[in-house]
Amino acid sequence: MTDPVNDSRHPGVRIPAALAKALASARRVVALTGAGVSAESGVPTFRDALAGLWARYDPLELATPSAFARHPKLVWDWYASRRDALRAAAPNPGHRALVEIERRVPSFLLATQNVDGLHAKAGSRSLVELHGNLERVRCSRDGEVVDRWNAPAADEPPRCPRCGAFLRPDVVWFEEALPAEALERADDAARRCDLMIVAGTSAEVYPAAGLPRTAKAHGALVVEVNPDATPLTPLCDHAIAARSGLALPALVAAAWPAHAAGPSGAAPSAREGGGAK
Ligand code: APR
Repeated sequence: MTDPVNDSRHPGVRIPAALAKALASARRVVALTGAGVSAESGVPTFRDALAGLWARYDPLELATPSAFARHPKLVWDWYASRRDALRAAAPNPGHRALVEIERRVPSFLLATQNVDGLHAKAGSRSLVELHGNLERVRCSRDGEVVDRWNAPAADEPPRCPRCGAFLRPDVVWFEEALPAEALERADDAARRCDLMIVAGTSAEVYPAAGLPRTAKAHGALVVEVNPDATPLTPLCDHAIAARSGLALPALVAAAWPAHAAGPSGAAPSAREGGGAK
């Protein structure tokens, strides 16, 4: 039997044969992702985003409802600068591997804490964005998402075209609850899955960090992908200590060896093998 641990396309990433087999035969899979999955796309983590001009601020001064009430323009500008930085970012092989897994298992849900929208850009369809999406803007009064607004006064964020309240990013701030429907969907999937992949998250911020614990308590196999250990590592059935841009494609290649080599998931053809790019 081929040993999927030693796949030459993913040197250095060891995928245990038992894990490859479990993924290939899983009926219900959930993936939970965090900032680490976007690191290889060059997206700064929340803390890294407080660099340069923003280095003198504390996240609690910028990512809370009370900060927005006190300094709406400052908070708006910070998110606008993060939105601008995102324009250059593209999905990486880790994002794409999760799309491949979604295509291959009967039931799949991707729950992400990332607000960068890169999973959707990669093609993930069954997706819940637990912490919102940086590219969306909503009314700070009634929460309605707004696509267009008039140029704001210099010292203010733009205002809602319907009611005149300030607009704000559609992300979850500290002190705020997660969108109930998104959390319920993720929690329900965690209870029912037979395998959960936890990639690129420090697994410290609740309630998202509770999802792998829920999955484990309900009998799922839990797999962590993270170069560093986290509080979740001791609870996991498998911990792959590698970057997600390498480890997730290696996991796909190990689980579905006949399919994973080609760009569209097909077996490699002579044309693809030619290397003319
Ligand atoms: N591949 C996989 N994991 C990586 C990579 C990589 N290339 N690079 C870094 N990591 C890991 C780090 O080791 C760390 O454990 O990703 C994790 C990132 O942790 P955090 O920055 O805490 O991100 P996350 O877990 O998503 O944070 C949760 O907290 O900061 C708030 O609201 C913010 O959604 C965020 C939430």
